[in-house]
Amino acid sequence: MMSTHDTVIVGGGVTGLVAAWRLAEAGQDVVVLEARERVGGRLRSEEHDGSLFEIGGQWVSPDQDALVGLLDELGLETYPRFREGESLYVAGDGAVRRFTGEDLPVGPDTAAAIERLTKTLDDLTAEIDPDRPWDHPEAERLDHMTFQQWLEEECDDVEARDNIALFIGPAMLTKPAWSFSALQALLMAASAGSFLHLVDADFILDRRVEGGLASVAHELTRRLGDRVRLSQDVTAVEYDDEGATVVVKHERLRARRVIVAVPPPLVRRIRFTPELPAEHRHAREHQSFGLVIKVQAEYPTPFWREEGLSGTGFGPYQVVHEVYDNTPAGSTVGHLVGFVSDEAADRLGTLGVEERREQVLASLTAYFGDAARSPTTYVESDWQHQELTGGAYGTSFDVGGLTRYGRVLRQPVGPIEFGTSDVSGLGFQHVDGAVRVGTELAQRVLTPGAAS
Ligand code: FDA
Repeated sequence: MMSTHDTVIVGGGVTGLVAAWRLAEAGQDVVVLEARERVGGRLRSEEHDGSLFEIGGQWVSPDQDALVGLLDELGLETYPRFREGESLYVAGDGAVRRFTGEDLPVGPDTAAAIERLTKTLDDLTAEIDPDRPWDHPEAERLDHMTFQQWLEEECDDVEARDNIALFIGPAMLTKPAWSFSALQALLMAASAGSFLHLVDADFILDRRVEGGLASVAHELTRRLGDRVRLSQDVTAVEYDDEGATVVVKHERLRARRVIVAVPPPLVRRIRFTPELPAEHRHAREHQSFGLVIKVQAEYPTPFWREEGLSGTGFGPYQVVHEVYDNTPAGSTVGHLVGFVSDEAADRLGTLGVEERREQVLASLTAYFGDAARSPTTYVESDWQHQELTGGAYGTSFDVGGLTRYGRVLRQPVGPIEFGTSDVSGLGFQHVDGAVRVGTELAQRVLTPGAAS
């Protein structure tokens, strides 16, 4: 069976859906082919015991103006994350200290070292164009050393280094600081406007969307109607100068342009004829998913609030390295959300479900005391087990990959465009980046010959 369209979009995450909606608004005949039985990709909500849990992306920050604009356009409401009260810091010896603001309650020398590192990182970040980090005069040097090496060159204080590493390694790229470059770390910071923004949970984790961030995908899908087709795992794309034929099951869809809106490592699941240029394959082989297990626990009440705590906690040596109050708006129960990242996630991944749950709850107990040990509901995100994602939150380059291959990821091949939040400058690895990339890809389809 063969149908013809203006543009076929592979992938029904936010990138693909935004691109489709912009093209549909411009009068194009578009089709979105989504492999899963649902839209949203890395955005997904689930109900457990009567409460909504966001399994993937959930927070919106004020600088994310592409996403904020789309939320307005779609008529979706937001509410602030609960943050009243004191935060907690669990030190290496297990001591729990309360604090307010962004300054961690560490010794004076460590505090001074953190301040110095933060300033150096912020100054460097200000010099980085998130769309072209490889253009920085020091790009190669910074891309050829790991972030850990950079931290060791800059600072002797181990606790200061571990905390700064946490904000970019475990908390953002979800990889150990020895596995990605200093330039990749700076891109992460530049994509959020500054390194300080990453440190400031009140900024980067500012608001949530009523009904969950996945509502963005659902509302776009509602508007696109039967242009969105589910359970359509695209296996092949044949292309020439005139257009491309997308193959899914026994159907062939012909279009003048194709947008492949799937994360870079998953492009390899699609067979291209002719084959993609070698540098495209290499580039995507050097960009891999990080790994974080998002864990959520529901309690009869947000008991920490009664103790004057905000629910925010950091523990660079804890299994759960960061934790927040995640109670949905208007709810009387209490939710905590925490994250188990990179090497801790590798370790926990080898355990059985019960043992993993026990270790996670023991870590929450280290922050909040015994009351945290017995939630009424416990939910873990499972992205690493899903072939159509493969990790969380997103993908980043190995050492040296950004300068060697970064440019390639956004280049079209003949009539085919590629992109997800993983290739965004601003909003890199975030839904804001998906909105930006989706918008840009639609513009490029509508403006043939537009520069990449
Ligand atoms: P995405 O990966 O979402 O979409 C790709 C789609 O392509 C998927 O639906 C997939 O099924 C489909 N696909 C793949 N191969 C296919 C094929 N061959 N044929 C057809 N379809 C195919 N962001 C944020 O802004 N705030 C936050 O708080 C968080 N937190 C967070 C937590 C967790 C646990 C995760 C996993 C992620 C986040 N994020 C986040 C990141 C955010 O969710 C992510 O950047 C975007 O949702 C990515 O959207 P894309 O559409 O770019 O890719």
